[in-house]
Amino acid sequence: MEKGISQAVIRRMPRYYRYLGELLENGVERISSNDLSNLMKVTASQIRQDLNNFGGFGQQGYGYNVKFLYDEIGKIMGLNCRHDIIVIGAGNLGLALTNYAKFEKLGFVITALFDINPKLKGTKVRGIPVYMMDELEKYCKNHSIDIAALTIPKDSATEVAQKLVDLGIRAIWNFAHVDLDVGEDVIVENVHLSDSLMQLSYNIVKNTANE
Ligand code: NAI
Repeated sequence: MEKGISQAVIRRMPRYYRYLGELLENGVERISSNDLSNLMKVTASQIRQDLNNFGGFGQQGYGYNVKFLYDEIGKIMGLNCRHDIIVIGAGNLGLALTNYAKFEKLGFVITALFDINPKLKGTKVRGIPVYMMDELEKYCKNHSIDIAALTIPKDSATEVAQKLVDLGIRAIWNFAHVDLDVGEDVIVENVHLSDSLMQLSYNIVKNTANE
């Protein structure tokens, strides 16, 4: 069904999901596309266009059923199933991700961390064990892992990513500042907070220039 849907639409879906989740929490059962448009500051036609990619979900004169739409977007985004994650690199960033327990509410469960620093061997983060990298192969054989988060320095990221792929990992959440070339059958999602900061900086400069 989702074949051919642009990445731009897919990237907007989490925002719909977040807003609908908040509406649900506030006991709102249905919402018109105009009200959703005002709330999200997106045109009603954009909302209709986006959701039509997946078959609509709206009803003429009724608007959207919040719970139904929330569940459907959840299904589309694969949030109706659990995703087990291992974190490679138990440093500042790896710990920050692991300590954020709310990812679990979305079905993303961190089951283990891996590092090369022997001081971390046998430690736990929020009850989640930190293993050494030489234990990775055995762990991968005995556990089903959906995603590996890469929070290590870029110098070793390429080599470690390849190792993960060789061990059967098919999705990488990459925080290392390097473009990974791991083949087309592996899904890589890059997260670079600095890109977002640069975007912010650009807009500050643009605003200042217009003053
Ligand atoms: P950190 O130095 O606190 O942690 C890195 C950890 O990786 C250490 O515990 C280290 O022992 C471990 N490590 C190093 N090589 C390894 C290997 N081959 N296998 C397994 N573990 C290994 O660094 P921090 O602050 O957590 O940053 C980690 C990486 O993430 C850095 O490359 C940094 O540039 C990047 N980063 C990316 C951000 C983003 O938005 N994409 C934001 C912040 C950091």
